[in-house]
Amino acid sequence: MNLILLGPPGAGKGTQSKLLSERFNIPQISTGDILRENVRDNTPLGQKAKDYMDRGVLVPDELVVKMVSERLNENDCSLGFILDGFPRNIEQAMALEETLEQDAKRIDHVIGIEVETEELIKRLSGRRVCKRCGAAYHVTFNPPSKEGLCDSCSGELYQRDDDKEETIVERLRVYDEQTLPLVEFYKERGLFRKIDGAGGVEDITSLIVGVIGK
Ligand code: AP5
Repeated sequence: MNLILLGPPGAGKGTQSKLLSERFNIPQISTGDILRENVRDNTPLGQKAKDYMDRGVLVPDELVVKMVSERLNENDCSLGFILDGFPRNIEQAMALEETLEQDAKRIDHVIGIEVETEELIKRLSGRRVCKRCGAAYHVTFNPPSKEGLCDSCSGELYQRDDDKEETIVERLRVYDEQTLPLVEFYKERGLFRKIDGAGGVEDITSLIVGVIGK
Protein backbone atom coordinates (compact mmCIF):
# COMPACT_ATOMS: atom_id res chain seq x y z
CA MET A 1 0.00 0.00 0.00
CA ASN A 2 1.39 3.38 -1.07
CA LEU A 3 0.09 6.31 0.98
CA ILE A 4 0.52 10.07 1.05
CA LEU A 5 -0.32 12.02 4.21
CA LEU A 6 -1.16 15.59 3.30
CA GLY A 7 -1.87 18.42 5.71
CA PRO A 8 -0.57 21.70 7.07
CA PRO A 9 2.38 21.95 9.46
CA GLY A 10 1.27 20.51 12.81
CA ALA A 11 -1.66 18.52 11.40
CA GLY A 12 -0.13 15.34 12.80
CA LYS A 13 1.38 13.83 9.63
CA GLY A 14 4.53 12.72 11.42
CA THR A 15 2.66 11.36 14.45
CA GLN A 16 0.20 9.40 12.32
CA SER A 17 2.76 8.16 9.78
CA LYS A 18 4.86 6.61 12.55
CA LEU A 19 1.83 4.75 13.93
CA LEU A 20 0.68 3.62 10.47
CA SER A 21 4.21 2.53 9.62
CA GLU A 22 4.27 0.21 12.65
CA ARG A 23 0.76 -1.03 12.01
CA PHE A 24 1.23 -1.86 8.31
CA ASN A 25 4.95 -2.59 8.48
CA ILE A 26 5.83 -0.20 5.68
CA PRO A 27 8.36 2.65 5.97
CA GLN A 28 7.55 6.26 6.76
CA ILE A 29 9.37 8.59 4.41
CA SER A 30 9.46 12.05 5.97
CA THR A 31 11.22 14.58 3.76
CA GLY A 32 11.43 16.96 6.74
CA ASP A 33 13.20 14.31 8.87
CA ILE A 34 15.62 13.36 6.06
CA LEU A 35 16.44 17.03 5.44
CA ARG A 36 16.95 17.70 9.18
CA GLU A 37 19.32 14.70 9.41
CA ASN A 38 21.31 16.16 6.51
CA VAL A 39 21.44 19.57 8.20
CA ARG A 40 22.57 17.94 11.47
CA ASP A 41 25.30 15.98 9.67
CA ASN A 42 26.30 19.04 7.66
CA THR A 43 26.13 17.15 4.33
CA PRO A 44 26.20 19.07 1.02
CA LEU A 45 22.40 18.58 0.80
CA GLY A 46 21.96 19.82 4.38
CA GLN A 47 24.10 22.90 3.68
CA LYS A 48 21.92 23.76 0.68
CA ALA A 49 18.63 23.09 2.52
CA LYS A 50 19.27 24.79 5.86
CA ASP A 51 18.56 28.39 4.94
CA TYR A 52 15.23 27.50 3.25
CA MET A 53 14.14 25.44 6.24
CA ASP A 54 15.07 28.13 8.74
CA ARG A 55 12.92 30.59 6.77
CA GLY A 56 9.98 28.16 6.62
CA VAL A 57 9.91 28.01 2.81
CA LEU A 58 10.22 24.98 0.55
CA VAL A 59 13.62 23.53 -0.30
CA PRO A 60 14.07 23.61 -4.14
CA ASP A 61 12.26 20.80 -5.95
CA GLU A 62 15.36 19.42 -7.69
CA LEU A 63 16.98 18.62 -4.32
CA VAL A 64 13.90 17.06 -2.74
CA VAL A 65 12.67 15.10 -5.77
CA LYS A 66 16.04 13.38 -6.24
CA MET A 67 16.21 12.58 -2.52
CA VAL A 68 12.74 10.98 -2.54
CA SER A 69 13.28 9.05 -5.80
CA GLU A 70 16.43 7.50 -4.34
CA ARG A 71 14.65 6.64 -1.10
CA LEU A 72 11.74 5.00 -2.96
CA ASN A 73 14.21 2.76 -4.78
CA GLU A 74 15.38 1.18 -1.55
CA ASN A 75 14.30 -2.40 -0.86
CA ASP A 76 12.12 -1.65 2.16
CA CYS A 77 9.71 0.30 -0.09
CA SER A 78 8.91 -2.71 -2.27
CA LEU A 79 5.72 -3.58 -0.35
CA GLY A 80 4.60 -0.02 0.24
CA PHE A 81 5.46 3.29 1.87
CA ILE A 82 4.00 6.32 3.61
CA LEU A 83 5.04 9.70 2.28
CA ASP A 84 4.99 12.37 5.01
CA GLY A 85 5.65 15.91 3.78
CA PHE A 86 6.02 15.02 0.11
CA PRO A 87 4.78 16.10 -2.40
CA ARG A 88 4.49 19.75 -1.35
CA ASN A 89 3.51 21.29 -4.70
CA ILE A 90 2.17 20.26 -8.11
CA GLU A 91 5.66 19.92 -9.63
CA GLN A 92 6.70 17.45 -6.92
CA ALA A 93 3.44 15.51 -7.37
CA MET A 94 4.06 15.20 -11.11
CA ALA A 95 7.65 14.13 -10.54
CA LEU A 96 6.41 11.50 -8.08
CA GLU A 97 3.93 10.12 -10.63
CA GLU A 98 6.74 9.83 -13.15
CA THR A 99 9.05 8.05 -10.70
CA LEU A 100 6.35 5.58 -9.69
CA GLU A 101 5.27 4.92 -13.29
CA GLN A 102 8.81 3.82 -14.13
CA ASP A 103 8.36 1.00 -11.59
CA ALA A 104 4.71 0.30 -12.54
CA LYS A 105 3.63 1.59 -9.12
CA ARG A 106 1.01 4.12 -8.08
CA ILE A 107 -0.36 5.95 -5.07
CA ASP A 108 -3.35 4.16 -3.48
CA HIS A 109 -4.65 6.85 -1.10
CA VAL A 110 -3.97 10.47 -0.25
CA ILE A 111 -5.14 11.27 3.27
CA GLY A 112 -5.72 14.99 3.91
CA ILE A 113 -5.60 15.77 7.65
CA GLU A 114 -7.53 18.96 8.46
CA VAL A 115 -6.99 21.01 11.65
CA GLU A 116 -7.95 24.62 12.54
CA THR A 117 -5.14 27.18 12.31
CA GLU A 118 -5.34 28.16 15.99
CA GLU A 119 -4.85 24.52 17.02
CA LEU A 120 -1.95 24.10 14.54
CA ILE A 121 -0.12 27.03 16.12
CA LYS A 122 -0.65 25.58 19.62
CA ARG A 123 0.63 22.16 18.50
CA LEU A 124 3.72 23.51 16.75
CA SER A 125 4.76 26.04 19.36
CA GLY A 126 4.52 23.38 22.09
CA ARG A 127 6.25 20.59 20.15
CA ARG A 128 9.51 19.17 21.49
CA VAL A 129 11.54 16.61 19.54
CA CYS A 130 14.12 14.06 20.72
CA LYS A 131 17.62 14.89 19.45
CA ARG A 132 18.55 11.21 19.41
CA CYS A 133 15.55 9.28 18.03
CA GLY A 134 13.32 12.04 16.59
CA ALA A 135 10.23 11.17 18.70
CA ALA A 136 7.82 14.13 18.98
CA TYR A 137 6.24 15.32 22.24
CA HIS A 138 4.08 18.25 23.20
CA VAL A 139 4.53 20.25 26.38
CA THR A 140 0.76 20.05 27.10
CA PHE A 141 -0.88 17.45 24.83
CA ASN A 142 1.78 14.74 25.05
CA PRO A 143 4.41 15.59 27.67
CA PRO A 144 7.33 13.24 28.38
CA SER A 145 7.40 11.52 31.79
CA LYS A 146 10.58 13.43 32.72
CA GLU A 147 10.73 17.04 31.56
CA GLY A 148 13.18 17.57 28.69
CA LEU A 149 13.96 13.85 28.21
CA CYS A 150 12.65 11.32 25.70
CA ASP A 151 10.61 8.44 27.19
CA SER A 152 11.97 5.89 24.70
CA CYS A 153 15.71 6.65 24.61
CA SER A 154 16.33 9.34 27.30
CA GLY A 155 17.64 11.67 24.57
CA GLU A 156 17.46 15.42 25.10
CA LEU A 157 14.32 17.16 23.81
CA TYR A 158 14.64 20.39 21.82
CA GLN A 159 12.42 22.88 20.01
CA ARG A 160 12.80 22.87 16.22
CA ASP A 161 14.15 26.18 14.87
CA ASP A 162 11.17 26.45 12.52
CA ASP A 163 8.69 26.02 15.41
CA LYS A 164 9.21 29.65 16.47
CA GLU A 165 6.00 31.61 16.02
CA GLU A 166 7.10 33.88 13.11
CA THR A 167 8.37 30.88 11.11
CA ILE A 168 5.19 28.92 11.85
CA VAL A 169 3.14 31.74 10.29
CA GLU A 170 5.33 31.63 7.17
CA ARG A 171 5.10 27.83 6.92
CA LEU A 172 1.30 28.04 7.10
CA ARG A 173 1.29 30.69 4.35
CA VAL A 174 3.53 28.54 2.15
CA TYR A 175 1.23 25.57 2.74
CA ASP A 176 -1.87 27.52 1.63
CA GLU A 177 -0.13 28.91 -1.42
CA GLN A 178 1.83 25.90 -2.68
CA THR A 179 0.58 22.68 -1.09
CA LEU A 180 -3.19 23.16 -0.83
CA PRO A 181 -3.62 22.97 -4.65
CA LEU A 182 -2.68 19.27 -4.28
CA VAL A 183 -6.11 18.60 -2.80
CA GLU A 184 -7.72 19.31 -6.19
CA PHE A 185 -4.89 17.50 -8.00
CA TYR A 186 -5.57 14.29 -6.08
CA LYS A 187 -9.38 14.74 -6.09
CA GLU A 188 -9.21 14.74 -9.89
CA ARG A 189 -7.41 11.39 -9.66
CA GLY A 190 -10.01 9.99 -7.24
CA LEU A 191 -7.39 9.44 -4.52
CA PHE A 192 -8.10 12.18 -1.98
CA ARG A 193 -9.74 11.33 1.39
CA LYS A 194 -10.34 14.02 4.02
CA ILE A 195 -9.89 13.31 7.74
CA ASP A 196 -10.80 15.55 10.68
CA GLY A 197 -7.51 15.82 12.57
CA ALA A 198 -8.94 17.56 15.65
CA GLY A 199 -9.39 14.55 17.94
CA GLY A 200 -7.05 12.38 19.99
CA VAL A 201 -4.10 10.69 18.27
CA GLU A 202 -5.56 7.17 18.44
CA ASP A 203 -9.00 8.29 17.22
CA ILE A 204 -7.39 9.86 14.18
CA THR A 205 -5.41 6.70 13.44
CA SER A 206 -8.69 4.76 13.53
CA LEU A 207 -10.29 7.24 11.12
CA ILE A 208 -7.40 6.84 8.70
CA VAL A 209 -7.41 3.05 8.94
CA GLY A 210 -11.18 3.10 8.30
CA VAL A 211 -10.76 5.19 5.18
CA ILE A 212 -7.90 3.08 3.84
CA GLY A 213 -9.91 -0.06 4.34
CA LYS A 214 -12.81 1.14 2.18
P1 AP5 B 1 8.38 19.08 7.75
O1 AP5 B 1 9.28 18.49 8.75
O2 AP5 B 1 7.73 18.20 6.74
O3 AP5 B 1 7.31 19.91 8.56
P2 AP5 B 1 5.75 20.18 8.30
O4 AP5 B 1 5.12 19.66 7.09
O5 AP5 B 1 5.68 21.63 8.45
O6 AP5 B 1 5.10 19.28 9.33
P3 AP5 B 1 5.41 19.16 10.82
O7 AP5 B 1 6.50 18.17 11.03
O8 AP5 B 1 5.66 20.53 11.43
O9 AP5 B 1 4.02 18.72 11.40
P4 AP5 B 1 3.27 17.30 11.35
O10 AP5 B 1 2.04 17.43 10.53
O11 AP5 B 1 4.21 16.19 11.02
O12 AP5 B 1 2.83 17.23 12.88
P5 AP5 B 1 3.38 16.32 14.07
O13 AP5 B 1 2.85 14.95 13.93
O14 AP5 B 1 4.84 16.50 14.29
O15 AP5 B 1 9.11 20.23 6.92
C1 AP5 B 1 9.98 21.15 7.52
C2 AP5 B 1 10.67 21.97 6.43
O16 AP5 B 1 11.47 21.10 5.60
C3 AP5 B 1 9.76 22.70 5.45
O17 AP5 B 1 9.34 23.96 5.94
C4 AP5 B 1 10.66 22.82 4.22
O18 AP5 B 1 11.59 23.86 4.36
C5 AP5 B 1 11.39 21.49 4.23
N1 AP5 B 1 10.68 20.45 3.47
C6 AP5 B 1 10.17 19.29 3.96
N2 AP5 B 1 9.60 18.58 2.97
C7 AP5 B 1 9.76 19.30 1.83
C8 AP5 B 1 9.38 19.11 0.47
N3 AP5 B 1 8.69 18.02 0.08
N4 AP5 B 1 9.70 20.06 -0.43
C9 AP5 B 1 10.40 21.16 -0.07
N5 AP5 B 1 10.79 21.42 1.20
C10 AP5 B 1 10.47 20.50 2.14
O19 AP5 B 1 2.59 17.01 15.29
C11 AP5 B 1 2.88 18.35 15.68
C12 AP5 B 1 2.71 18.48 17.20
O20 AP5 B 1 1.34 18.23 17.54
C13 AP5 B 1 3.54 17.47 18.02
O21 AP5 B 1 3.96 18.09 19.19
C14 AP5 B 1 2.54 16.34 18.34
O22 AP5 B 1 2.86 15.69 19.56
C15 AP5 B 1 1.22 17.12 18.45
N6 AP5 B 1 0.07 16.33 17.99
C16 AP5 B 1 0.00 15.50 16.92
N7 AP5 B 1 -1.23 14.98 16.80
C17 AP5 B 1 -1.97 15.53 17.81
C18 AP5 B 1 -3.32 15.40 18.22
N8 AP5 B 1 -4.18 14.60 17.56
N9 AP5 B 1 -3.74 16.11 19.29
C19 AP5 B 1 -2.89 16.93 19.98
N10 AP5 B 1 -1.59 17.08 19.64
C20 AP5 B 1 -1.13 16.40 18.56
